[in-house]
Amino acid sequence: MTATVSMPPQQNPSDDADWIRRTKQDLRAKLPGLNRIWTDLLAAIAARRDEIRAAEKAGGSVIPRLSYTDIAAGKVSAEMRAAIHRTGTVIVEGVVPRQQALDWDQQALDYLTLNRYAERGNDPSLAAYFGALKSGDPQIFAVYWSKPQVAARQHPAMAETRAFLNRLWRFSDATEGHPATRYFFDPDRAVDYADRLRRRQPGDVSLGLSPHIDGGSIERWLAPSFQQVYRQIFSGTWRQHDGFDGEARAVAEEFPAPHISNFFRTYQGWIALSGQGKGDGTLQVVPMLREALAYFLLRPLLEDVPADLLCGARRGKAQAISADWHQPLLDCLISIPHVEPGDTIWWHPDLIHAVESEHRGTSVSSVIYIPGAPLCAKNARYAAQQQVRFRDGRTPPDFGRDDRECGFEDRATRADLSELGSRQMGFAPWDVSKDDPARRDFTAACNADMSAR
Ligand SMILES: [Fe+2]
Repeated sequence: MTATVSMPPQQNPSDDADWIRRTKQDLRAKLPGLNRIWTDLLAAIAARRDEIRAAEKAGGSVIPRLSYTDIAAGKVSAEMRAAIHRTGTVIVEGVVPRQQALDWDQQALDYLTLNRYAERGNDPSLAAYFGALKSGDPQIFAVYWSKPQVAARQHPAMAETRAFLNRLWRFSDATEGHPATRYFFDPDRAVDYADRLRRRQPGDVSLGLSPHIDGGSIERWLAPSFQQVYRQIFSGTWRQHDGFDGEARAVAEEFPAPHISNFFRTYQGWIALSGQGKGDGTLQVVPMLREALAYFLLRPLLEDVPADLLCGARRGKAQAISADWHQPLLDCLISIPHVEPGDTIWWHPDLIHAVESEHRGTSVSSVIYIPGAPLCAKNARYAAQQQVRFRDGRTPPDFGRDDRECGFEDRATRADLSELGSRQMGFAPWDVSKDDPARRDFTAACNADMSAR
């Protein structure tokens, strides 16, 4: 879809309201059959809801699960791939050995204790983004550079898992019998995206996050680059939308705002450092990608919505999914099934997710957040900014200016980076000598961006 509105991002809320009004008029004018499309969409969502609930009732889950050993052996079925595309989420079991994950958990706790984290208070950027976090003991920790985090992000099995998952996306213009002339991102090479730790205490009620989507808010409707990503949905053919097409997605630009990610993630994800499942204050998802996305993008265009409202989208905040506007989607929200230390979970950047409001379990639920973070122009630029922060232990670019880790003892340094870790951080170039010409050009440009510091 060509851009309907091409105003630059503005900060004034009344400007946003006017922009939203005009954009909605434009989008609605291109959807004369919206009522019929909506009826069809609701029926599709009801069918998915029934599948999701039937699986839960039978003691299972529609969330696909596979074993890391199947990835390593190249034995993942076409059905499994289709299930990941359909649900937008997947659990990969046993990416690192159980004992390795438990050791990382202990090391993370030692790091927090050594540096008296609890005495330093919560990270204010969390409340700035979500707006409604209650105070209390920290449950998400604003540390990015502990040795276990760095070790997890450069673990070879994590790299292999992420490469497999990235290859479920369309990442180049290659077609059957025709080599790529252009790469959108490199599925096999990652950028190190430093994120936080979660260690949630039993009984905690402060961390619950209501259902939301990250990676953009009002720009999903207003920005030409996002309109391109969602062009089939906005032209009434939502069944043709491919959420795993990286061509437009890898270059979509979020509106700049504090605490808004400026990084292309193929998945959000974490690795479990403790056993956790339903009731343990862990992740919930709406395991339905295309239908849910079409619903929340088209919902503001219906006649019962005020002209300047985008149903839970506010500049610089997480996209809220609420009972006011999105009840059929909330009916599909489920907790993830039990995972063991060393298991990982991944979910698409457009997937609705939440964190259970209460931890009713008996032990700490602990994770290291690690997304799908493939090499591409946008991420290479981020890496160049991030590596400067790493050297001083400062907070990474996406996470505000907490900088508390600068004075921490036993922080990871360059000496803790493996060869792979150095490349992922942009300290060493990727070897392009065996690449096809298109990939070589792509990687060489990324190498140059990452070393431009
Ligand atoms: Fe989130």
